[in-house]
Amino acid sequence: MTFHDANGSRTMRIGILGTGAMAEALGGAWVRAGHEVMVGGRNAASAAATAARIGATAHGGPAEAARYGEAVLLAVPADVAPQLAGELAADLAGRIVLDCTVPMQPSSHGGPVLSTAGGTDSAALRIAVAAPHADVAKVFGICHESIWALPQPAFEGAPLAVPFCTDAPPADVVTRELITSMGCTPLPCGDLQRAALLEAAAVFAIGVWWSGSEVRHAFPAPALAPGAVHD
Ligand SMILES: NC(=O)c1ccc[n+]([C@@H]2O[C@H](COP(=O)([O-])OP(=O)(O)OC[C@H]3O[C@@H](n4cnc5c(N)ncnc54)[C@H](OP(=O)(O)O)[C@@H]3O)[C@@H](O)[C@H]2O)c1
Repeated sequence: MTFHDANGSRTMRIGILGTGAMAEALGGAWVRAGHEVMVGGRNAASAAATAARIGATAHGGPAEAARYGEAVLLAVPADVAPQLAGELAADLAGRIVLDCTVPMQPSSHGGPVLSTAGGTDSAALRIAVAAPHADVAKVFGICHESIWALPQPAFEGAPLAVPFCTDAPPADVVTRELITSMGCTPLPCGDLQRAALLEAAAVFAIGVWWSGSEVRHAFPAPALAPGAVHD
């Protein structure tokens, strides 16, 4: 049965693979939004503890969480995610897989770099190849966990915009619904070939934050330039 709250939001069943910081922050946000969440971890005690902290509906192993969710969040390290998706491919078939991973590694180049080849190669595309019967969306990887823990993320008077990439219409619909139910604004950014851009943007932003600077100060909209003429 499908339930709708006063805002018309649909109650969704969401499985989470992972029990760490992002599992807790996003899972908590979805519980607050009225969704039913199962935390799935390879360590049963961690899954139970994270589920208890956020008030999740259930906890279990990764395969159980994959089968539980209409949507399934991969909240594991980026270098693990494609392999895990492959191991759970049968359980993930027909699900919307939400990939929040950031494929990042340290470097001697003045900041972290992608651990993928870049270009169009991305953790998201690798996950899509590993679980070919799931619909993958790249989403929720741009913001730090602390942002998702906020009750209503909004800054400078505007709800948080959440960029996402997907090829699959069902994933597009569900991702928009989830983002909206969290009080945020969906920001569609193209198909999964462009997920590499979101992953690179996250690595770039993390490098800037680690240097002690503020990313958003580097991206004023052209429209903010007084007297500017725009095409
Ligand atoms: N933290 C952030 O602010 C943030 C922001 C944006 C995106 N992300 C991305 O979100 C993902 C999760 O980050 P996190 O900060 O939540 O990491 P985390 O706190 O270290 O949690 C990682 C989780 O992955 C599990 N895991 C690791 N290897 C596994 C495997 N082989 N099979 C099954 N589970 C495995 C861990 O289980 P064990 O406890 O059993 O090891 C743990 O539950 C990463 O890809 C990260 O790049 C993080």
